[in-house]
Amino acid sequence: MTREVWEAVPDPSARAVQPAVLGSLLDDPAPREGRFGVWRIATDHVDDATLDAARAWLDDAERAHASSLVRAELRRAYEIAHGAARRVVGAALGLAPEQVVWGRHACPGCGEPHGRPRAEGADLEFSLSHTPGQVLVAVADLPVGVDVEQHPTDPVAIAGVLHPRESSEIAAAAAGTLDGGRATVRFTRAWARTEAYLKGIGIGLGRDPHLDYLGTDAAPARSVGGWSVHDVVVPDGYGAAVAVAGPHAVGPHAGRPR
Ligand SMILES: CC(C)(COP(=O)(O)OP(=O)(O)OC[C@H]1O[C@@H](n2cnc3c(N)ncnc32)[C@H](O)[C@@H]1OP(=O)(O)O)[C@@H](O)C(=O)NCCC(=O)NCCS
Repeated sequence: MTREVWEAVPDPSARAVQPAVLGSLLDDPAPREGRFGVWRIATDHVDDATLDAARAWLDDAERAHASSLVRAELRRAYEIAHGAARRVVGAALGLAPEQVVWGRHACPGCGEPHGRPRAEGADLEFSLSHTPGQVLVAVADLPVGVDVEQHPTDPVAIAGVLHPRESSEIAAAAAGTLDGGRATVRFTRAWARTEAYLKGIGIGLGRDPHLDYLGTDAAPARSVGGWSVHDVVVPDGYGAAVAVAGPHAVGPHAGRPR
């Protein structure tokens, strides 16, 4: 079968990624094979003493940002995500969490230092994502992006931000003319896959999310622009994905929807 280059192709042999659960931020995360790993933390399971310990690891910029977050659940998720990232990245580098120094890669869109986050002096890539209730941290030898999202209340109203084919699939699911998943689940799948990919590239939403087709169906892995994008298993009410650069990864190409 000939495949059009603009068509994202599901890999039927691939499985969704099952993240390791970081039960306590005070436990050392077990090393992951080939330094690729995804960790999940349920923010409600972090007790006050552990959160206080994690807060003590944060640098001045992280503390200042946390204090600027008015909603307590957003502040909690931010602090836990940054504490967990320090724990996971530090463990991979042989450093204590508070010794990790964050930096940024150059943005592939404009060259300014606000691209993918990185740990200074480390040959390790990482990505983090937080939403009320859930945090994910991914590490890899190659550029990586991870995203976790809560289900929206009205997916059809916001589906226009996605690729035109994805928004059609969501509208069809809501209208009952497409089997294989509710509109809410389909929206979150496509959005998490797209954000994971754009965070992996390092441009984030500086690249229009309606340009890339990642799909809304249950295929647990897709390839786009030379990246491999996998769903991550998270509790009901959430969707998540991780994107890892492949050997032929490309930059933030502009243009018509692929
Ligand atoms: C990155 C982005 C997609 C985050 O989305 P989100 O769903 O709100 O938040 P998430 O929790 O999933 O991810 C947040 C984390 O992504 C990471 N991140 C931030 N910018 C990033 C980038 N350019 N690439 C990859 N990761 C990035 C950070 O670790 C951030 O954590 P922090 O906010 O706690 O410091 C969004 O903030 C974005 O696109 N920012 C850049 C937009 C832009 O216009 N850039 C300029 C291009 S010239």
